[in-house]
Amino acid sequence: MQLAKVGETPDLLVGCTGGGSNFAGLSFPFMREKMKGKMNPEIRAVEPASCPSLTRGTYAYDFGDTAGMTPLMKMHTLGHDFIPDPIHAGGLRYHGMAPLVSHIYELGMMTATTVGQKECFEAAVKFARTEGIVPAPEPTHAIAVAIQEALKAKETGEEKVILTALCGHGHFDLAAYDQFLSGNMVDSQLLDADFEAALAALPVM
Ligand SMILES: Cc1ncc(COP(=O)(O)O)c(C=O)c1O
Repeated sequence: MQLAKVGETPDLLVGCTGGGSNFAGLSFPFMREKMKGKMNPEIRAVEPASCPSLTRGTYAYDFGDTAGMTPLMKMHTLGHDFIPDPIHAGGLRYHGMAPLVSHIYELGMMTATTVGQKECFEAAVKFARTEGIVPAPEPTHAIAVAIQEALKAKETGEEKVILTALCGHGHFDLAAYDQFLSGNMVDSQLLDADFEAALAALPVM
């Protein structure tokens, strides 16, 4: 709606993904237009490197919760036992992905990528300094990729409309900013064994 008012359509949509709700809210109206052939934006999900359910998970039936109480749902999952690193983007620490987003991903109608938290906070600080808004750690994932893509377009001279959603402010996350700015933030190492163990505990169908 807002883009239509200025006569623009997005070439690229970038949204962070935890469970997939803010991402679906941003992208599904454009997905509909894409399905109708009215526009063809690239739609990209950005997940934390330490909780990569779309890019590293498996497409299988799993529980939506850690306790295993929900009905089984087909989704991209790291396994409901998977415990992600305690990154600051707590809202993205979810083992699975919404079944609808997972399905669209399987259809090849969207792409997904991951970013580590240090790169996210670098982008966050740049965004805060240029836009005057301190973003929550979750949308910094999308902001980091939007910045990467904008810089690529600048280099090639391509005109590109990039749409993202700032799904939360970071006023309660200043300790994370402090940690980043004082050089104490780390990107943890991911162990294949942790992924394998959680996937091994998927419910048997
Ligand atoms: C600020 C913020 N953004 C994004 C998310 C990600 O969730 P979802 O992918 O379900 O929208 C959360 C989840 O708590 C959040 O707090």
